[in-house]
Amino acid sequence: MRVGLATDHGGFELKEELVAQLKAAGHEVVDFGAHELNQGDDYPDYVTPLAHAVVAGEVERGIAICGSGVGASVCANKIEGVHACLIHDHFSAKQGVEDDHMNILCMGGRTVGPCVAWDLVETFLNAEYSQEPRHLRRLAKVALLDSRKV
Ligand code: RB5
Repeated sequence: MRVGLATDHGGFELKEELVAQLKAAGHEVVDFGAHELNQGDDYPDYVTPLAHAVVAGEVERGIAICGSGVGASVCANKIEGVHACLIHDHFSAKQGVEDDHMNILCMGGRTVGPCVAWDLVETFLNAEYSQEPRHLRRLAKVALLDSRKV
């Protein structure tokens, strides 16, 4: 799968590890930065281009990291068509895709260890949106919020 990653300084080390693991697992990786550790950098500068790339289909899925994952998820969800969520558990990494069409996985570089993060990434990438009618109906209601029709 073609996967995009983005982080600020808060997730720099984790992102570097995940890039290597994803490549080793045979995925194509697009690294939206940060490309060096800079304690003064800002997550929107990396997460926003990733979010646009996911919506444009330039990458199939995105992984957005910051210190907590909160800023990354808040930022990514500002882009119409993004379904980003901060995930800490295996169940949500799977169900978030199956039910809610999550297309960007957000994690905290300071809140999850590398083994948990890799499990979340693998689970997220292996899951598929179910397209069941009740989920399509719910996400259609969410999409109306994007277009400010409700
Ligand atoms: C940066 O110190 C930190 O605020 C950022 O990485 C992120 O955790 C914000 O939500």
